[in-house]
Amino acid sequence: MKPVVNIKPGSEGSKAKYWIEEHYKYVATTTHDPQDLPLVIERGEGVWLYDVDGNKYLDFTSGIGVCNIGYPTHPEVKKAVIEQLEKIAHAAGTDFYNPYQVMLAKKLSTIAPGDFPKKVFFSNSGTEANEAAIKIVRQATGRKFIIAFYGGFHGRTMGSLALTASKNVQKKGVFPWMPGVVHVPYPNPYRNPWHINGYEQPEELVNRVLEFIEEYVLDKILPPDEVAAVISEPIQGEGGYVVPPKMFFAELKKLLDKYGILFIDDEVQMGMGRTGRMFAIEHFNVAPDIISLAKALSGGVVPIGATIFRAELDFKQSGIHSNTFGGHALASIAALKTIEVIEGLLPHVQKLEKIFAEELMPLKEKYEKVGDVRGIGLAWGVEIVVDKKSKKPDPQTRNKIIKTALESGLVLLPCGKSSIRLIPPLVISEEEAKTGLEIFAKAVKEAVSA
Ligand SMILES: Cc1ncc(COP(=O)(O)O)c(C=O)c1O
Repeated sequence: MKPVVNIKPGSEGSKAKYWIEEHYKYVATTTHDPQDLPLVIERGEGVWLYDVDGNKYLDFTSGIGVCNIGYPTHPEVKKAVIEQLEKIAHAAGTDFYNPYQVMLAKKLSTIAPGDFPKKVFFSNSGTEANEAAIKIVRQATGRKFIIAFYGGFHGRTMGSLALTASKNVQKKGVFPWMPGVVHVPYPNPYRNPWHINGYEQPEELVNRVLEFIEEYVLDKILPPDEVAAVISEPIQGEGGYVVPPKMFFAELKKLLDKYGILFIDDEVQMGMGRTGRMFAIEHFNVAPDIISLAKALSGGVVPIGATIFRAELDFKQSGIHSNTFGGHALASIAALKTIEVIEGLLPHVQKLEKIFAEELMPLKEKYEKVGDVRGIGLAWGVEIVVDKKSKKPDPQTRNKIIKTALESGLVLLPCGKSSIRLIPPLVISEEEAKTGLEIFAKAVKEAVSA
């Protein structure tokens, strides 16, 4: 199967143009960029998206990391959801009891790393999963401060926004957000304050980050016995699909344990099989105290967020934290089935990692403007720079690649300052993967040679 783009997306006279204009009249401004992504989606099938003009695109975005099991959703999830709809969708899961959320909580507690009892708080989104994490660590430890990483993205509500540090526009004009957060450098092997090549010297990079946390933050700004937690994405998503050195989280956890500081692992974007493991942190040989999940957890059918945590950290009293939709029956059933489907897809994702590596890595050798290529499983980032020596981000060329790809039938999303993420649904076939990677390579060639 090949993409078909007969009508240029968003062009004069297209249905897409009409809907985009109507959109701007009635829908609040969020993150759309009509210059680069004039895609008006009508429906999806497997890894393919169809726009309102009948164009057919190969999707390398998974609906921003949500539709990991394909469009409109996996047939098994669809079946389970329809069956559940015949029974009940919303069962007021925070005031009454239902078996569905219990089954999901039990499953998540079992599959999450860490050989200790766990519990789960349910919500509706990634930002809420992190809000719950903030409350859990504060009330459980009695400590107030949280350390987060530069480049990290954890959501946009006032608590999680305080943790977020991927772009300053996310904080523009909305101060004050939650106080008590200090940011530290992430061990980005390609781009870090010490100009260390973290691919060649991973230990050196990790040591610098840990030293920074211990000597410059815990020793000079935040008394360690007042720090509740460190939060991190296992691989930074919005920040650019940045993969830290293998030993980082185990070393970080050792440092945190020394001071009784908890570790929150934000798996909202990288969890649910994206990296070839159910949780991306499983690549790093460490068990987080708290894990936040959302996005792909319920197969894109119905919003859900989940905060998995050590049982002993549970809220001390009924009413400290709750919501209306938590423990939603339909969302719980969709998530249970999605997990089952993803469990079956993990070997496939691990296999496809090779194809992505083989097709993407050479771009770095071939083109001066491809500064870095990194990834695990089906989570890949390609960073576009002015030239290799200066490493200066080149968002214009990055945007050109995304636009050219879209017009050739491949949907991509940016991340970081000048990176592109390649995150197809996990159900993508080898042939579809190769088709998409070929279009991508052509779009890169065209944009960097222009
Ligand atoms: C790692 C991470 N955490 C949290 C969030 C926030 O999730 P939501 O947009 O569902 O609130 C995102 C969203 O992109 C994310 O990537």
